[in-house]
Amino acid sequence: MSVLLINGPNLNMLGTRQPEIYGSTTLADVEAAVRAQGEAAGVSVECFQSNYEGAIVERLHAARTDGTAFIIINPGAFTHTSVAIRDAFAAAEVPFAEVHISNVHKREPFRHHSYLSDIAVGVMAGFGTLGYNLAMTFALQELKTA
Ligand code: DQA
Repeated sequence: MSVLLINGPNLNMLGTRQPEIYGSTTLADVEAAVRAQGEAAGVSVECFQSNYEGAIVERLHAARTDGTAFIIINPGAFTHTSVAIRDAFAAAEVPFAEVHISNVHKREPFRHHSYLSDIAVGVMAGFGTLGYNLAMTFALQELKTA
């Protein structure tokens, strides 16, 4: 039983990418913090980042049968564009939380729509990188009661 943390395009640049919007925490910091939360609860965390839509689609297909119990995803810009990632979640049939570091709803109108939110268990937006940990707290609670 494990949690899969997926980060989409440009999130490998966290820490240096537009720090006024995304802060100075790096992706390695985010992954270490979520892993530590999992370890403390006896749940393993697998981290995956890709700038390629197809690679994320294929990782989601694998999640259907590899023991992934919950997915936390920041799909980055694919949030607003990707029917393919939406369909892959529907195929994977693994519950997931959608995380955005920034509050996408107070940004440009094109960031207000998500192809994933209506099939996600829940959405976190605007709490900085802490949002990943809040989503992980929820995931661990779900796994405990499953
Ligand atoms: C983001 C918001 C998206 O609109 C953007 O394309 C990102 C990051 C966020 O974490 O706030 O890459 O998902």
